[in-house]
Amino acid sequence: MEKDNKTWSGRFSEPVAQLVQRYTASVGFDYRLAEYDIQGSLAHARMLAATNIIQSADLEAIEKGLIQIREEIRKSEFEWQLEQEDVHLNIERRLTALTGDAGKKLHTARSRNDQVATDIRLYLRAAIDEIIGLIHVLQHVLLNLAEQHAATIMPGFTHLQVAQPVSFGHHLLAYYEMLQRDGQRLQDCRKRVNQLPLGAAALAGTSYPIDREQVARELGFEGICHNSLDAVSDRDFAIEFCASAALIMMHLSRLSEELILWMSPAFGFIRIADRFCTGSSIMPQKKNPDVPELVRGKTGRINGHLVALLTLMKSQPLAYNKDNQEDKEPLFDTVDTLRDTLTIYADMLAGLHVNPEAMRQAALHGYATATDLADYLVKKGMPFRDAHEAVAQAVRFAESKACDLSALSLADLRQFSETIEQDVFEVLTLEGSLQSRNHPGGTAPAQVREAIRRARSQLPD
Ligand code: ARG
Repeated sequence: MEKDNKTWSGRFSEPVAQLVQRYTASVGFDYRLAEYDIQGSLAHARMLAATNIIQSADLEAIEKGLIQIREEIRKSEFEWQLEQEDVHLNIERRLTALTGDAGKKLHTARSRNDQVATDIRLYLRAAIDEIIGLIHVLQHVLLNLAEQHAATIMPGFTHLQVAQPVSFGHHLLAYYEMLQRDGQRLQDCRKRVNQLPLGAAALAGTSYPIDREQVARELGFEGICHNSLDAVSDRDFAIEFCASAALIMMHLSRLSEELILWMSPAFGFIRIADRFCTGSSIMPQKKNPDVPELVRGKTGRINGHLVALLTLMKSQPLAYNKDNQEDKEPLFDTVDTLRDTLTIYADMLAGLHVNPEAMRQAALHGYATATDLADYLVKKGMPFRDAHEAVAQAVRFAESKACDLSALSLADLRQFSETIEQDVFEVLTLEGSLQSRNHPGGTAPAQVREAIRRARSQLPD
């Protein structure tokens, strides 16, 4: 027979069934909130003493007990019990065992509903700060790589067809920008995470003369949640975080897709260091880009967590419902996955081998400077649409000769427009094409270097 559940046994005529106990318990995963639970309890107890709701002797015992429990947990000596359901009751039960009546007073003017909402917010705030730091590290790696390759020429693609030559550094800076917005989104999300629910108690507030501002100050919250019903029930801040996480993963998934393509021998633009690849058990020649493939794959799981939380919240009547216990696993896994992904990504990009010659050859093989020829004709007075057509004919002609536009003779080129002169060969080179896009946001190496300088000045070290 099950151990009986003492927490609410007075009102219950039979103990909870074993499967139900396992089904309803959250300690198997919410033990991860322990540090934050203790931090929140310490602040709550100090406020209870400051407002004379408990005696200072009680506070002393509670503080001593909670600090001991924190040590036990850190040393993995704490015995988590499924019968105590969750992290909150496990800690409270242990505190009472250590301190007697003082421990029993800790839950005055509080409910697990405002307690858990506080814990998650503290947890998420710390996670956001860590993840923002990891984004910055990855951004620095991108900037260093972009700097080395400010003048490395690769084909820029649209529809995955060779479009126009771009600087590889410029291409990398596109991801810098995405991550910059990702970091800003998290910073913004943090403001809404960083509001104190404690004081809302179960749902309606409490009849004790509490001081919520004191608790908010001690825990570093920017303010208090203004409505008790909202404070205990909404998890929109976690959903918002998961949405930001999904965008980060989406961005990294795009870069991953490119790394995978570029590493294919058909491209041969890059090599990912061996420590990020695996071999095939059957094909000896294979080296597989497992890490980017998994980042791409894990993006699906992060999207799933976002949908899980949206679905969890949808249709819940006010105020707290047990549904909300299901918020933790998706949230924890989102943080864990993001942390690992960002860490591994920075390391992987720092060790990337780049093959500029393969990039250059690819750019030479797709008529990447055709737009430059059209622009040349426009500058000589031809309307753009006519220039577009003339160059289309020229490309067709070059194709029939299996050569690049720059390999055609002046006489050949003049078939398409009398205005073409010797200086056309400057714009038909890859370098000329790049140089000419010399404005903020353009791919000219000088602009890429300027963009890197600007980025470094705004990025914390
Ligand atoms: N383990 C619960 C959760 O994660 C804590 C709050 C429980 N509150 C309650 N009234 N049963 O949401």
